[in-house]
Formats: sequence, C-alpha cells, structure tokens
Amino acid sequence: MTPPHRTRLTFHGPLSEARADALVQRLTRHRPTTVLDIGCGTGELMLRVLAAAPEATGTGVDLNADDLARGREAADNRGLASRTRFVEESATGTAHGPADLVLCVGSSQALGDRLPEALQELRRLVADGGRVLLGEGFWQRTPTPAELSRMWPDAAVTDHPDLATLIGLAIDAGFRPEWTETASLDEWEEFESGYLADTEVWLAEHPGHPLAAQTRERVDRHRARWLTYRGVLGLAYLTLVPVADR
Ligand SMILES: C[S@@+](CC[C@H](N)C(=O)[O-])C[C@H]1O[C@@H](n2cnc3c(N)ncnc32)[C@H](O)[C@@H]1O
Repeated sequence: MTPPHRTRLTFHGPLSEARADALVQRLTRHRPTTVLDIGCGTGELMLRVLAAAPEATGTGVDLNADDLARGREAADNRGLASRTRFVEESATGTAHGPADLVLCVGSSQALGDRLPEALQELRRLVADGGRVLLGEGFWQRTPTPAELSRMWPDAAVTDHPDLATLIGLAIDAGFRPEWTETASLDEWEEFESGYLADTEVWLAEHPGHPLAAQTRERVDRHRARWLTYRGVLGLAYLTLVPVADR
C-alpha cells in the first residue's frame, strides 16, 4: 500500500470554486467554439468551460498519462467525451490551435523556458477575437536570499517577475489584459493543505510502514518550502485579449 495522494484537490493550483465559476462565465461570454488547454493536467477547468459552452470542442495537452486518464474519465462521466480530446504529448511547439480560448494555468513552462517566449506562443495559439487565460507565478514581494535558499532547488529572484512586469510582458507579446486577478492567501492555504492532507493523515496512521520515513521526509520538505513562499509567491490569473493584426 502506498500513501494516497491528491484525492482532496479539484484543481492543481490555488483556485477556489468561486473564482473558477467567475472565470468560466467570463471566458464563455464570447462563445468560444474551440478550446485548447496547455499543460491541462486533469483538464478540470476546460471541462467546466465545455459544459458552459455547448458548441465548443476542447483539446487538452499534457505529458502526464495518469492525469490525462483522470480527465478522460471525468469527461465521460459528465457527457463531454464526444467534445473532448486529451492528448499525451509535449505542448512545446504544438501543432494544435489556433483556438478561440487557450487555457495555460501553471503551465507556461510547457511553451518555452522563458516567459516572453511562452507569451509569444500563446499569441500564436489564440485566434483573433479569442481569449487566453494565463495562470502565472509572480513575486508578491522580492524574496530575501535566505527565503530563496529554503524554496525549491536553485530558486532565484529571476524565476518570476512582479505583477506589473508580468502584465507588461503580456502587453509586449501582443495582448491587452481584460481582467487581472490573483490567488488569495485562502486559496493558497486550501491548495497546499489539500495537496498534503492525505499523506499527512496516512503518516499519522502508518508510522511503522516501510515507506513512512521517506514519505515523512518528502512531506516535511514540501511543507517547509510552501511555508517559505507563503505570501511571497503569487499566482496571477490574467484574461488576455490578443491585439488584432492590422
Ligand atoms: C501545475 S500543473 C497545472 C495543471 C493544470 N493546468 C491545472 O491548472 O490544474 C502543470 C502541468 O504542466 C504539464 N507540463 C509540463 N511540461 C509540459 C510539456 N512540455 N507539455 C505538456 N504539458 C507539460 C505537467 O505535466 C502538469 O500537468
């Protein structure tokens, strides 16, 4: 028996039900007929968009076969399978698109190592008059060197821009920001607690399990990192409109 993982998460990021509802409403206002989800994971947000936009078809692209299988099962259960494709491949240089709506939440690294490059890809992948939802990390304040040393391996100030710089980069790539919002501390705490909760309970119930020591070490390390970036690392949800080619 291995420790359970992620059964308490709906989204793989700090996203509340209320914000997801508002996003779906905004992103379906212009009646998209094609949706492309870059680094879709289980594609939960795409499936909600498809449920709210009955004329739309959706393609989710990811490398994680388990998440894609979960997405296909959810599409099936919700009667969306005929309008949904989950494709196991890299999104780097993808041949899918252009689409009326492109979702890229926590996944810009799938489009390029650098943010300007990823934003240019998003501009290429969105149809004129369409929308991009970009979920992207930013520094809420500049982390100190001591904090950086306790975050992910090789964490650097250059890993993320601040919010104004992030929006400036989107504008430089040919977008206007229709809507700017950022994950709240409550959303972060809900996400990070949900991420670890199953494993924490398993550890409490199986202290002598052969996998307990390595699992405890992994969970303690993740919690220490998250409590360091808590309130420092932000996640912006930018609804971007492509500027028309003249
Ligand atoms: C933080 S998760 C976000 C998942 C999903 N967008 C969500 O919000 O729940 C990042 C996802 O990007 C995917 N990913 C990373 N590199 C990729 C690539 N080159 N092509 C496609 N997907 C990639 C990962 O497998 C992972 O599912």
